[in-house]
Amino acid sequence: MRGNGRCCSRRARGTAPRMRKSQYNVAIIGATGTVGRELVAVLDQRGFPLGSLRLFASAASAGEENEVAGVRIEELTGDTRLKDTDLVFLACQETVARVWRSRALEAGAFVIDLGAGNAGAPSMPLVVPEVNAAALARVREGRLVGSPDPAAIALAVVLGAVSQIVAIRDVVATVLDPVSLAGRQGIEVLEQELYDLLNGREPAPPRIFSQRIAFNVVPDVGGGTATLETRGEQVLREHVRLLLGDPGLPVHATRVQVPVFFGLSIAVDLRLARSVTVHEIESHLQSAPGVLLVASGGEVQGAPLPLPTPATVIGSDATHVARVRVDPEVPSVACWLAIDNTRKGSATNAVQIAELLVRDYL
Ligand SMILES: NC(=O)c1ccc[n+]([C@@H]2O[C@H](COP(=O)([O-])OP(=O)(O)OC[C@H]3O[C@@H](n4cnc5c(N)ncnc54)[C@H](OP(=O)(O)O)[C@@H]3O)[C@@H](O)[C@H]2O)c1
Repeated sequence: MRGNGRCCSRRARGTAPRMRKSQYNVAIIGATGTVGRELVAVLDQRGFPLGSLRLFASAASAGEENEVAGVRIEELTGDTRLKDTDLVFLACQETVARVWRSRALEAGAFVIDLGAGNAGAPSMPLVVPEVNAAALARVREGRLVGSPDPAAIALAVVLGAVSQIVAIRDVVATVLDPVSLAGRQGIEVLEQELYDLLNGREPAPPRIFSQRIAFNVVPDVGGGTATLETRGEQVLREHVRLLLGDPGLPVHATRVQVPVFFGLSIAVDLRLARSVTVHEIESHLQSAPGVLLVASGGEVQGAPLPLPTPATVIGSDATHVARVRVDPEVPSVACWLAIDNTRKGSATNAVQIAELLVRDYL
């Protein structure tokens, strides 16, 4: 089915069919980070057709070896050339990405930016393959694609499925963000604070997070803005609207930094255009791409099925959904979501995008 229409229209215009390569030269910038390391693993696990793989990081990690790929880390310098690279993943801070986005494009590569949430108003298409793969068509213009904020990915996968059977009027979400969302430094801060407190020492003054995060929760993700919303809340709304193609959708989010290392969870409440039953929503979600549902009343050996939590979704590429509830008074549905922020929340989503690029565009 795939590609037939495209092939015919090319022939109709007399254009030569695209010669597909069998292998692609890939570079990862930020390959030693929380996301970069997972990217290498996901490319390997999904059998991505790699030709060469170049792994870049700062001088601090140059010369280390990535054990999964058996590739040495190169230092990214002003002299680095990306000639003959088909695809570049940007898995680094925005200060580095800002420079290498344009250098990679100038070198003729396609670019997948995993820090799209940091890049200000997204001028690049943001893609979650299960939700808006068609938006990838814009890649022909700029060769640049963004993988959205992990909470937006989880919400879009589920809201995209729900909106196929009932219109969503508005979204209220409380997002519990793990410290790994702030990269290695976020992980180090929580480790050190826990170590200090458990050894009877006062932790150092807060860094990375606005307050101590060990044994605490902090409703401040992404820093303040001129409005009362944090930047993380604004990014979430922008990304959910873009992914669902609904620029006016009200999205009220509260993002809370929690003392969890990995795994992001969301309590979500959707106002709907009509009343639904739990059975209707669950039977649709059961077969929705990218969703793993723990249905209400489900049992294993006579005990209720375990609910998804940050700890239980680690390593999974699905958006896990549970506790689907409806309100008999107001047409609405509430549920609980959990996702591995380093897998479907970033690396796996980016590799899925790369698979589509290879299939249709590269
Ligand atoms: N963490 C998540 O769950 C998550 C989810 C979605 C999106 N993202 C986005 O993904 C991106 C990477 O995040 P992360 O969490 O993986 O960060 P991280 O753990 O802090 O890793 C940062 C990476 O960037 C490299 N780097 C730093 N300065 C560099 C320089 N001057 N030149 C070359 N490389 C440099 C680091 O290399 P060294 O080892 O040499 O320092 C490391 O490989 C960010 O844009 C983030 O917003 C993260």
